[in-house]
Amino acid sequence: MVVLAAGKGVRMNSRIPKVLHPVAGRPMLLWALAAAKAVDPERTLVVTNPDHDGVQAAVNGEGQTVPQREQLGTGHALAQVAAAHRGAGPVVVLYGDMPLLREETVTRLLKAHRKSAAAVTILTATFRDPTGYGRVVRSRNGLFRKIVEEKDASEEERGITEINSGVYCFSGRELWPALLKLENRNRAGEYYLTDAVRLVKGKVQTVEVDDPDEVLGINDRRQLAQAEATMRRRILDKLMADGVTVTDPATTYVDADVRVGRDSLIHPFSVLTGATSAGEDCVIGPFAQIRDSVIGDGCRIERAHIEASRLASNVTVGPFSRLRPGSDLDEGVKVGTHAEIKNSRIGAGTTISHFSCVLDSTVGANVNIGAGTITANYDGESKHRTDIGDRTQVGSDTIFVAPVTIGSDVYTGAGSVITRDVPAGSLAIARPEQKIVEGWTARRRARRKKAADVAPKAGTQKAGTREVGKR
Ligand code: UD1
Ligand code: CA
Repeated sequence: MVVLAAGKGVRMNSRIPKVLHPVAGRPMLLWALAAAKAVDPERTLVVTNPDHDGVQAAVNGEGQTVPQREQLGTGHALAQVAAAHRGAGPVVVLYGDMPLLREETVTRLLKAHRKSAAAVTILTATFRDPTGYGRVVRSRNGLFRKIVEEKDASEEERGITEINSGVYCFSGRELWPALLKLENRNRAGEYYLTDAVRLVKGKVQTVEVDDPDEVLGINDRRQLAQAEATMRRRILDKLMADGVTVTDPATTYVDADVRVGRDSLIHPFSVLTGATSAGEDCVIGPFAQIRDSVIGDGCRIERAHIEASRLASNVTVGPFSRLRPGSDLDEGVKVGTHAEIKNSRIGAGTTISHFSCVLDSTVGANVNIGAGTITANYDGESKHRTDIGDRTQVGSDTIFVAPVTIGSDVYTGAGSVITRDVPAGSLAIARPEQKIVEGWTARRRARRKKAADVAPKAGTQKAGTREVGKR
């Protein structure tokens, strides 16, 4: 099994190697690699460009890499496979830019090859618009003649809609000697693997793919978007089959590695990405964006942005709240509207219902964080923590100036700026004391009336204002 992935990907117009561009959250190479490994877990080689560090990292032991130092074409890429790996048995070759290929299709190709005595079995497809692909040229009686690349095709050949998918099963015995005979006398000046098909000695067999979508080759970003759309639909279909309700698949985006439990419901405009998992009976969305987070059972998340966080079961978040990395919410926590939480552990049953900012804090169980509370964590140089004990009632608009520790069963007065630790069971109020000036309103009104009576007329005043404006 060989996956070719060393190409430049010029048509992507990108600084990133083509095969690293993600499809449904996974580098496209890993999709092709997964299909290859599913068929032959033992011997999967990946031809890569040694200058593409990221590619080596992505392959990360999923396959053995073979360096192709110069990108002289797909035939040249395959020729980099060392003699030690050049067995006489079937060699399946696929390209790293076809993320939609299913393992079942590779298996079918391999089986068809084994059953026949062909020197090579090629997976083909019929596309309504074959632009960009190599065409399968046949003789009048339908026998395979050759693959011609679009660049080298005649007007008539370009009209052919049967294409070469880029998935082949060669007989090793025939393949390796044929690669030595490749030439690069073509428009691209490359050593085409497609020419090896002509050079192998023996029968050429073709197998047509059932679903042409599977062999979409990603050469540019338009095709990347196309692959993303198809993959997304596959992922959602799988989720629905697994018992998740997706209200509107057209506006729901779920990455490949996301898990969602049975009887959970995903409302429109929700985006679940990375290593996210959600439990059973959750209601997610509308407008939920969740990345790399673990969500328990029975959670309710609406119009919220959640990243690298953990929610135990029966947690409610939103609308309009943001959980930044390291938010760790225990059972039954309720985060309401316009709350921001970061790097904080929030104990079971605690509520943070309105307009609060809880940063670098540890909050106990059954605490009520009043509206407008802020744990001020940053002094301009470093970050500090706020600790709040169980059952504490934080009055609205309290500011905790960290580092500060608040005991259990504490009350803080609304509008307090808490700068010192508060022992358990106490009330802390830190705000100017209220002052009452009796009869003040009547005296003020009288003063204003007197001033208006002696003031110049409104018209004169306006002119004056305009003059100020001119200056
Ligand atoms: C190739 C086929 C074409 C087929 C199409 C299907 C050839 C000559 N043409 O064209 O018949 O219809 O795929 O999608 O094979 N690569 C290397 N080293 C290189 C060049 C390419 O490893 O020197 C890898 C690329 O990373 C890529 C794959 O081979 O994953 C295919 O290369 P690409 O340039 O995309 O070939 P196409 O022009 O699409
Ligand atoms: Ca391609």
